[in-house]
Amino acid sequence: MAKSNDGNSMPLTVVVLAAGRGRRMNSAYPKVLQPLAGRSILSHVLDTVEALRPDAVNVVHGHGGEIVQGEFADRSLVWTLQAEQLGTGHALAVALPGIPPQHRVLVLYGDVPLVAAASLEKLLDEADSGGVGLLTAVVDRPAGYGRVLRGEDGLVTAVVEHADATAAERALREINTGIMVLPADSARRWLSGLDDTNSQGELYLTDAVAMAVAEGVPVSGVTVADAVEAIGINDRRQLAQAERAIQQRYANELMDRGAVLADPSRFDLRGRLSVGRDVYIDVGAVFCGDVVLGDGVRIGPNAVISDSRLGDGCTVHAHCVIDGVIAAANCEIGPFARLRPGTEFDDSVKVGNFVEVKAGRLSSGVKVNHLSYVGDTRIGRDTNVGAGTVTCNYDGASKHRTQIGERVFVGSGSMLVAPLRVGEGATIAAGSTITRDVPAGTLAVARQRQRTVKGWKRPARRES
Ligand code: UD1
Ligand code: MG
Repeated sequence: MAKSNDGNSMPLTVVVLAAGRGRRMNSAYPKVLQPLAGRSILSHVLDTVEALRPDAVNVVHGHGGEIVQGEFADRSLVWTLQAEQLGTGHALAVALPGIPPQHRVLVLYGDVPLVAAASLEKLLDEADSGGVGLLTAVVDRPAGYGRVLRGEDGLVTAVVEHADATAAERALREINTGIMVLPADSARRWLSGLDDTNSQGELYLTDAVAMAVAEGVPVSGVTVADAVEAIGINDRRQLAQAERAIQQRYANELMDRGAVLADPSRFDLRGRLSVGRDVYIDVGAVFCGDVVLGDGVRIGPNAVISDSRLGDGCTVHAHCVIDGVIAAANCEIGPFARLRPGTEFDDSVKVGNFVEVKAGRLSSGVKVNHLSYVGDTRIGRDTNVGAGTVTCNYDGASKHRTQIGERVFVGSGSMLVAPLRVGEGATIAAGSTITRDVPAGTLAVARQRQRTVKGWKRPARRES
């Protein structure tokens, strides 16, 4: 059995409440599957939970149940169906029969994804074995959240939902994050006594707080270090607010690791980004999947980079889309380049404006500077591909490969019809359509000779 938390021998079950419909989202999809920083809201919660190494994780699902379950098929989770959403208290009640009475239960809300593992650890430490702990936050705009009432001794006495609160209670800025730890056996007792005589007609889990207090069980309130941890996502505005908050968190982590962000409020990470030292990231960059940037890499404005590794000293100019690319040191990309999966560059490759490369292996010093399409192609060292060159890799049925040797000069406007091999040091004349292999050291010219018509009269426009 995993040790759940220091100094506490009670086994720990985490229950994540995720059955709500999320009516305020106005979406066809379950709320907890809405994307936050590129993945579902619920996956953030589950990752944080993993860090606590609990003995079991139980997810209460309901609305859109199968879709939610399908999304997390690879995790070891216990799923409990709450067929009817009668409130958070009811949601925990349906999960309890599956939890041994000697466990502590840590309740998380599937729509509160920014909570930090450190705050949860503090909450578990603070509430003794048999005690109850509530994670709270002090926020500037508490509207919509449950307010935390405390007694003179500082202990929590009750949580009042916004809809049920008096004006004086609404003025309180300490809110309930929804996250609570309590013993499973007492929870069973308290939840069976809940009623729905409140303004939302729901069974509120938060009412268990006052019940604990009535029994003389102390309820400690632990306040999160950073108020953004408490953001609960009920509507699109809160989703946007949470997105900015998590992006600011990522931006801060990157800056701490030595990256320069031109504007942390215009930075988006939807995956994992690892940076070397002195990386510079201009505004509007979006990183998806797994991206690794070496020392001194510079990313221009409005780049979209997914699942790629860019070596030390690489520069990506403005407006590039880079996906599934491995580039060695000192490559220069863009502006306006599109690099697609399977593309690999050795060092000092230059791919310029309006160039698309798909599954291209470009050796060191290769230049494709303007307006070209390079697909399913290997290019040897120091070869220059002129403007407007197209590797014609598709015959309407299959894809074919192009092999270009070292130090080749491909003249501008060439159509290279694959399958094709161009030998080392060969030259292709501008405007050629090359359909046969070009031996090393030769010149290939494949275009019509120019005809010059002397004294040519342009057709004149007839006056009507
Ligand atoms: C809840 C809290 C409120 C707190 C806020 C924090 C209650 C009564 N209120 O309000 O004090 O400040 O969260 O964000 O708990 N859910 C179920 N089954 C249900 C109802 C809800 O699984 O029958 C799940 C939802 O999917 C959601 C979570 O519980 O993930 C919270 O429910 P929600 O309806 O969003 O409660 P809030 O109004 O936000
Ligand atoms: Mg909520």
